[in-house]
Amino acid sequence: MTSIVWIKHSSQLATMAQHSTKPRIKEEMNNLSIIEDGSVWIEDGLIKAIGKTSELEEQFKERADEADIIDATGHLVTPGLVDPHTHVAYGGSREREFEMRLEGSTYMDIMNAGGGIHATTKMTREATEEELVEQSKKRLDSFLKHGVTTVEGKSGYGLDLENELKQLRVMKRLQQEHPIDLVPTFMGAHAVPTDYKGREEDFVDLVINEMLPAIAEENLAVFNDVFCEVGVFTPEQSERILEAGKKYGLTPKIHADEIEPYGGAELAAKVGAISAEHLLKASDEGIKAMAAAGTIACLLPATALFLREQAAEGRKMIDAGVPVAISTDCNPGSSPTTSMPLVMNLACISMRLTPAEALTAATYNAACAIQMEDKTGSLELGKQGDVVLWDISSYQELQYLFGVNHVKAVWKKGVKVIG
Ligand code: NIG
Ligand code: FE
Repeated sequence: MTSIVWIKHSSQLATMAQHSTKPRIKEEMNNLSIIEDGSVWIEDGLIKAIGKTSELEEQFKERADEADIIDATGHLVTPGLVDPHTHVAYGGSREREFEMRLEGSTYMDIMNAGGGIHATTKMTREATEEELVEQSKKRLDSFLKHGVTTVEGKSGYGLDLENELKQLRVMKRLQQEHPIDLVPTFMGAHAVPTDYKGREEDFVDLVINEMLPAIAEENLAVFNDVFCEVGVFTPEQSERILEAGKKYGLTPKIHADEIEPYGGAELAAKVGAISAEHLLKASDEGIKAMAAAGTIACLLPATALFLREQAAEGRKMIDAGVPVAISTDCNPGSSPTTSMPLVMNLACISMRLTPAEALTAATYNAACAIQMEDKTGSLELGKQGDVVLWDISSYQELQYLFGVNHVKAVWKKGVKVIG
């Protein structure tokens, strides 16, 4: 039987539709293509019509009684939010490190002492596939509650062949068993495991010669990401790993210039990465290179807040022509949140994005950062019926009434999953 959802009379239907299918830059990020008194008709999971309510009433006057009708009078409606950077499939928790940082330790002090990523690696290795699936499902449920219908997820808490495969297989199961679309990224080069200390090049060889072929063989990832940072992987090592991944069809991403300026933004442009992440300390040359190459800046203001750092220069990047996306960075160390609405608020408050730019960064540009823009990220004919109904009437309120979850209902592929 055909399933039809008709959401009508939305005060602002933010379609995010534009003619270009490229990531949005500069003034394009402010154009939300809003329809007032808007309607969207979703049939068998896909958007079949979108426009003014009066137009759809005319178009479907014979079929209105087949639809599950939602009266959205006075409510904002947007595409499902997209989170293009998470480490969602992990074991355990690290609340003690939060206390330690408040007592004065830095993120890197904790990692170098065997905590941080190493601590989560230990807990992830110890967990069974089943346990990881259960823990991660709870986080994905929380994403849905916050209006997020598509999420990228990285490995990188296995750091050996067996456990990297385990983490990626967990994500494959989550993709099958949970309504959220989960797009997998291999991040074997997330940290040098403690038993490889002093033998960093050997670990890079292991990632390139053993992990990458095995992951490609099982088709477990779309992207290949590296933590390029002082004391983690050098730009040279990062480049080798990203170039090797390309040979297996994995598109590069890069955790770049998070803690110290290290040429990560420049490297992202050089290797043709789809996105560069963090960029708190990106250089002006790096920003210019990204704009020229069309590299998406995936900015993570909740991480900056949680680590009590100055956020990335989002305003400057947009003005320089870099397409900007935003993300939670959901992970147990530097940003344990699943709230994309909070991240949008912070994008405005700490990076001076306009409310409209923040919504573009969390929908269309975020979808582009994980190559999902032909399925989701905007409300357009033929795309998935991934839709959020908000308990407020405008996108401006969404960013202004901050720190509160305004989600009223969520549909994923036309199926109501929240509300
Ligand atoms: O994106 N910076 C590196 N990786 C993660 C943090 C991982 C962790 O602390 O467990 C990030 O912030
Ligand atoms: Fe990250």
